Amino acid sequence: MFTPTQLLEKVNAALAALPLPAAPEGLYAPIVYDLSSGGKRLRPVLLLMAYNLYRHDVEPAMSAALGLEIYHNHTLLHDDLMDNADVRRGRPTVHRRWGANTAILSGDAMLILAFAQVAACPCPQHGRVLELFASTAREVCEGQQLDMDFEHRTDVTEAEYVEMIRLKTSVLLACAARMGALIATAPEADADALYAFAERVGLAFQLQDDYLDVYGDPAVFGKATGGDILCGKNTFLLVGARARADRGQRSRLDALLADSTLPAAEKIAAVTAIYDELGMADACREAIDAYYAEARRHLERIDAPAGHTEALWAYAASLLDRTV
Ligand code: IPE
Ligand code: IPE
Ligand code: MG
Ligand code: MG
Ligand code: MG
Repeated sequence: MFTPTQLLEKVNAALAALPLPAAPEGLYAPIVYDLSSGGKRLRPVLLLMAYNLYRHDVEPAMSAALGLEIYHNHTLLHDDLMDNADVRRGRPTVHRRWGANTAILSGDAMLILAFAQVAACPCPQHGRVLELFASTAREVCEGQQLDMDFEHRTDVTEAEYVEMIRLKTSVLLACAARMGALIATAPEADADALYAFAERVGLAFQLQDDYLDVYGDPAVFGKATGGDILCGKNTFLLVGARARADRGQRSRLDALLADSTLPAAEKIAAVTAIYDELGMADACREAIDAYYAEARRHLERIDAPAGHTEALWAYAASLLDRTV
């Protein structure tokens, strides 16, 4: 079984070798810029690790793995436009550098490239792989729509929030794990368990992303912090803070978030101070740990060599303490 580092190197090498046309430069240069800007490559590594539970090579799963990474980068390109984000992976976002039209069209081209890569997967389960990818991609759109709808609401429940992040973030990780199993023709019950495992890891992953958006070090995180507060995003921190706040804290929080005249840095600091009063950082950590405990239980259902499952667990656990 390959290590995550070896898989990351293979994914990066395969991405760099993708035959992309040079012209029109306005369409393809932003794609090259985006795909070469680093990133954890979590989804392709997860797909290849799931595949590796059952098969020793990786080549038959590589085009699908690349497809998921290109798809993920497509979602980020459009997400940064929707979230008005300036920085991604420590560099200006595509819409900041080239404008909104470029973000839309280069992002669209990436979505098409992603489907072409997944469709090129040389495996007997070809139809099911494509069907899984298409239904996942539609779910991500649903999650992104809910994320935007929630910006206009102050009564989002924790259950609604969890369903929104399941759709916008988790299902793609879950799809990666299931796709690896499908391509390897793993037992159906294992594919289900791997999906459930990665879905729980994905929920924890988005909670950590919400946490880092407030408490991360922008130089390490690669994104500007405070963006979720400025957009009025219903993150774990905000939904949890509203649920825990007393009447005074809640009206202060709502007034701050609704205030469009307050300088950005002041708004971020004041909202963060309320999160601190309410112990939201600890609450976030506890929720992350609970999702990991569930993830672990699903992984234990898998009928693969124990050493291999442990390697997958170690990789998932390594994401727990991420700062990037
Ligand atoms: C960012 O995903 C978007 C979320 C789902 C939180 P990643 O944190 O996997 O981003 P990269 O690809 O490593 O930059
Ligand atoms: C990520 O949500 C979901 C998708 C990109 C589909 P965020 O908006 O929190 O992601 P970041 O923080 O910009 O990476
Ligand atoms: Mg977003
Ligand atoms: Mg965003
Ligand atoms: Mg975020």
